[in-house]
Amino acid sequence: MLVIHSIQELQATLAEHRQSGHRIGLVPTMGNLHQGHLQLVKTAQQHADVVMVSLFVNPTQFGANEDLDSYPRTFQEDINKLEALGTDILFAPTIDEIYPLGGNNTSHVHVPDITTVLCGASRPGHFDGVTTIVNKLFNITRADTAVFGEKDWQQLAVIRRMVIDLNIPINIVGEPIVREADGLAMSSRNGYLSAEQRQLAPALHICLQGMKEAITTGNREFTELKKNATLQLNTQGFRVDYLDILNPLTLTAPTAGDQEFIILVAAFVGETRLIDNLHITLN
Ligand code: PAJ
Repeated sequence: MLVIHSIQELQATLAEHRQSGHRIGLVPTMGNLHQGHLQLVKTAQQHADVVMVSLFVNPTQFGANEDLDSYPRTFQEDINKLEALGTDILFAPTIDEIYPLGGNNTSHVHVPDITTVLCGASRPGHFDGVTTIVNKLFNITRADTAVFGEKDWQQLAVIRRMVIDLNIPINIVGEPIVREADGLAMSSRNGYLSAEQRQLAPALHICLQGMKEAITTGNREFTELKKNATLQLNTQGFRVDYLDILNPLTLTAPTAGDQEFIILVAAFVGETRLIDNLHITLN
């Protein structure tokens, strides 16, 4: 695997691949790779001839009181995992390489509407940071396909919207959530959990499954369902940030006759903020 830190070197390497007719796949990450990330790489390998993972803990998507400094950095382990999978290129730029004039002094991409709810409401500016870095990665690499996880459902929806709005010539692939055996969605932030918190964490997924069961069997009392589930989680020891049942594409309230729903949750366990979601298609 080639480990590349400079944009110029990456572009020279990719130009050769493009000349050989290779399709280029991109998997953007912030590192501390787990099976969820690795699944994205495997999917990218099905869509492309050359697969490149980017590893960049993007400062512009972290709020002032968030975990930028403590975000887990495990560079050598990440390299080993990617090499074992046959990844072609790891692009790991420095902050200066990406934001030469500073993260606060850069043009940025803002997606309207769907960035104002859920994580966008709780983390002001977060999605501007995400869309700016992702757009930069798309421009730097000119990848044919990029793969993102459904674990961050809203992020995926925001990126799809950006690609449509800005006519970006790239194919976006969504990957289902990879979970631990007990149902907890894999996340770099799970490492922050104490043993006791880790035991509680799967209750988040179990709660969403209960809601899904209720909706699938005809319950449409969404306000009541959300209220009960929030109470249940808060009683169990979570601190619910948001819990909502929405249209999966628009992230707006479901309307009568909708056949698809998504339940989305963000909840704190101690200081750690976990997110999860569950998709429902009625048949
Ligand atoms: P990061 O949290 O490292 O996640 C990188 C990618 O892995 C995202 O597309 C995310 O949805 C996916 N992912 C994480 N956990 C997953 C799981 N359990 N199952 C499936 N996919 C999972 O998301 C980011 O980084 C950043 O915002 C980024 C897009 C790289 C921009 O900085």
